[in-house]
Amino acid sequence: MPHDFSHISAARLTALVAAAPKAELHLHIEGTLEPELAFEIGRRNGVALPFPDPAAMRRAYAFTDLQSFLDIYYAAAAVLLHEQDFFDLAWAYLVKAAADNVARAEIFFDPQTHTARGVPFETVVRGLARAVERARAELGVSAALIMCFLRHLSEREAFETLERSEPYREHFIGVGLDSGERGNPPEKFTGVFAKCRALGLHAVAHAGEEGPPASITGALDALGAERIDHGVRCLEDPAVVARLVRDRIPLTVCPFSNVKLRVFDRLADHNLPRLLAAGLRASLHSDDPAYFGGSVNDNYRGSLAALPLTAADAYTLLRNSLESSFLEPSEVIRHVTRLDEVFAAG
Ligand code: HPA
Ligand code: ZN
Repeated sequence: MPHDFSHISAARLTALVAAAPKAELHLHIEGTLEPELAFEIGRRNGVALPFPDPAAMRRAYAFTDLQSFLDIYYAAAAVLLHEQDFFDLAWAYLVKAAADNVARAEIFFDPQTHTARGVPFETVVRGLARAVERARAELGVSAALIMCFLRHLSEREAFETLERSEPYREHFIGVGLDSGERGNPPEKFTGVFAKCRALGLHAVAHAGEEGPPASITGALDALGAERIDHGVRCLEDPAVVARLVRDRIPLTVCPFSNVKLRVFDRLADHNLPRLLAAGLRASLHSDDPAYFGGSVNDNYRGSLAALPLTAADAYTLLRNSLESSFLEPSEVIRHVTRLDEVFAAG
């Protein structure tokens, strides 16, 4: 498609982006737990939250870095005990995703956050998988699960998680790596990722969020990561940028998250325009929308308002999201065709 979008006004562009099909590739299901749902599930399970009410919980979301967020995020997940809780969590997210015209959602889940509290692995996966299946049937959203290992735990514990997941292999398409990046380099998980890849699982990893560019190289070399989650610190090393551009490695960028976790002071300071100018394959995502102030469409809206991005940039971000997904090529083409139709009508 010839891309002359110069006639599209800013207001029109926001509407087009909202209406366009997109892929959500960086979304932690535990990070979609809104305070109201946390209190509702906590009440029915007899689990108290360390806040008097949802408003107080929201007020506590003044993070200073990744770890200060993770402390609250793991505490809130304690209300999730039963299969129905995991279903309700994922279903609430998928309904919102459909409203944002998310055609494909590749959803992270952190089984160790739950198994560490005595929740069986199968409880987590069965609840999430049921919501994924219902989203396909009732919402027309293609969703899939990616199992993340918590990098602050040991590789041995990651191997144990992989073993527990074995009977449920059909329910997830890949593995990821999340939690605190500082002091937990990708190389710590070389063995378990090699095993996952040998099993035919996709591999992605958080890198270059708080960690240095070397963490991105490590995720590619040691883990065989096919996508880098965040990756925004790559710009500190031209050699890393050159490699990411050459190999067309997707970066799943989450602007609201980066501001809330103080990777950038303000949205206007985000390096997204520079990532695109460098030819990097970036796309936009919401990370933990219940904590960081909005959905994937909110991230687009906010970024378009705060940053010097053109309509062509918005199109590129949307197209990158679809092409960076693990969907079948024929499905990608179908969604990109629809994206082109939305922009052609612009
Ligand atoms: N980084 C690392 N771990 C996470 C994140 C993140 O942005 N969100 C949820 N777990
Ligand atoms: Zn993340």
